[in-house]
Amino acid sequence: MRRKLVAGNWKMHGSRDSVRELMEGILAGLDETGDVEIAVFPPYPYLPLVQSLAMGSGIEWGGQTLNPNPKGAFTGEVSATMLSDFDCRYVLVGHSERRAQFGENSVAVAARFEAAQAGGLVPVLCVGETLAEREAGDTEAVVGAQLDAVLQRCGVAAFNSAVIAYEPVWAIGTGRTATPEQAQQVHAAIRDKLAVLDGTIAGQIRILYGGSVKASNAADLFARDDIDGGLVGGASLDAAEFLGICRGAL
Ligand code: PGA
Repeated sequence: MRRKLVAGNWKMHGSRDSVRELMEGILAGLDETGDVEIAVFPPYPYLPLVQSLAMGSGIEWGGQTLNPNPKGAFTGEVSATMLSDFDCRYVLVGHSERRAQFGENSVAVAARFEAAQAGGLVPVLCVGETLAEREAGDTEAVVGAQLDAVLQRCGVAAFNSAVIAYEPVWAIGTGRTATPEQAQQVHAAIRDKLAVLDGTIAGQIRILYGGSVKASNAADLFARDDIDGGLVGGASLDAAEFLGICRGAL
């Protein structure tokens, strides 16, 4: 049985005051979220604040990206060990905004995935197609190629300690959620692809759905066989809405 995971990707939002308020709101509603695992991904400067507020609560936290190098002259960048230093458990790799706006191609994403694990973090590998790719019937080929880049560099065994997030680019921040059927189809394709290489890993890896998840659509999505939770952007910035999504995973 895979434990459901609901993760909040705060992107470049928040302030010291709003982060405190959001965390306190989430913590106040934790007793209604049962066995659902919850993780938050704040901007880097707020990691110590989140760490101090969430420590011991069962909530996990992580970085939104990382540099693949362990250290060095990389102005503005952050390494896996720095994130581990603040007790991060997870780190997002290959979010579509990183791929589209910061030049992270699949090779660069695979290097980050590898560096995350080397630094003691669990990578959350984000994959997904654009609207044009979906309309051309290329969804599974695009997602498959994004997975292949990591498989080639790290091998299937690396997926023993990883999470995958399927996030169709056309659904992110648009209010246009994939239907549960559309999402389930891609999630099953991802799991089938891994099963060809290792059935045990395919059976245990968690595959999250991301893209305009809200409290009102979460339960329908999370009820599908291969959807093990969500990666939530906009709706994770409101404690009540985020808690509603977490309860959708019960
Ligand atoms: P959204 O973002 O929930 O605002 O669509 C999801 C994401 O980018 O992870």
